[in-house]
Amino acid sequence: MTKAIYPGSFDPVTKGHLDIIKRSSKIMDQVTVAVLENPRKIATYDIEERVQMLKIVTEPYPNVEVDYYEGLLIDYAHKNKTNIIIKGLRAMSDFEFEFQMALVNQKLNPSIETLFMMTNNKYSYLSSSIVKEIAGLRGDISSLVPPEVHDIIISKYRS
Ligand code: PNS
Repeated sequence: MTKAIYPGSFDPVTKGHLDIIKRSSKIMDQVTVAVLENPRKIATYDIEERVQMLKIVTEPYPNVEVDYYEGLLIDYAHKNKTNIIIKGLRAMSDFEFEFQMALVNQKLNPSIETLFMMTNNKYSYLSSSIVKEIAGLRGDISSLVPPEVHDIIISKYRS
């Protein structure tokens, strides 16, 4: 059985993330979307909110589950009994950092394989930070995030 982890901070989930989830669920038997902390970013949504939003948008995909972990990604992979990590790549600007993380993770655990999936062209400009910037300035994010979680995302900025 091919089992993979799709890790990220998902702060919040975007249509770009969901596209990678859908496409990986077609080539893997099981995909675990894992919410992890990115020590380089301060999260806007707490872990429970991020997990809840991911559970809502992945509900139609029976071979996708959502989980969270506080710690190293390679430790989570070990716990989850998989060595396949899927990452989305949007642009060359993502590449250098993702390349470094993939190599560090492989150094920490040589059995770890990081597979990169190219973004759908439609979402190459999209990021959680862009979504939050637009939402924070009361702009329309409806084309950027899955409709099922739109109101949860903007509720952070409307109270
Ligand atoms: O969506 P993001 O913010 O690009 O995801 C980055 C994430 C959360 C996958 C990354 O920061 C991560 O793996 N965090 C867990 C800690 C860890 O294992 N760091 C790797 C050392 S290179």
